Amino acid sequence: MSLERTLSIVKPDAVGRGLIGEVLKRFESAGLKIVAAKLVHLTPERARAFYAVHKQRPFFASLCDYMSSGPIFVSVLEGEGSIARNREIMGATDPAKAAPGTIRKDWGKDVEQNAVHGSDGPDTAATEIAFFFRPDEIFRPSH
Ligand code: RTP
Ligand code: MG
Repeated sequence: MSLERTLSIVKPDAVGRGLIGEVLKRFESAGLKIVAAKLVHLTPERARAFYAVHKQRPFFASLCDYMSSGPIFVSVLEGEGSIARNREIMGATDPAKAAPGTIRKDWGKDVEQNAVHGSDGPDTAATEIAFFFRPDEIFRPSH
């Protein structure tokens, strides 16, 4: 495994229910380091750009409405194998199918309002991190 960075999003439903701290606690407890973070309110256009890969899917319009419905909390998580690790901590896309103890099992409402997003591979992680953060907004240890 190698040191990786991945993009995490606490989605509008979870931000609205005051779950940012609970979600971050799970990442930090698992040894993932938060190296960048901010609140963002996506416009519908920016949401469509972020999810462009899904534009042919039947849920695309609804997903973009939802993701622009309120603030989201975006962060960059760094650690050994952080991309897969984050997805394990999140659980399956559909909260009804997510394993016990995962974020989506505990806080996801349904297959769309599923509390969190995480990058699914090294290429998407790099693209998604650059979508939200300039290089100088991402912490780098000075030694
Ligand atoms: P994410 O990208 O948010 O980390 O989730 P994922 O990889 O587990 O799921 P993905 O297939 O990439 O879908 C992106 C988001 O679209 C919504 N979705 N709705 N109505 C539906 O059947 C449906 N399927 C997916 C979810 O918000 C999902 O996280
Ligand atoms: Mg995905």
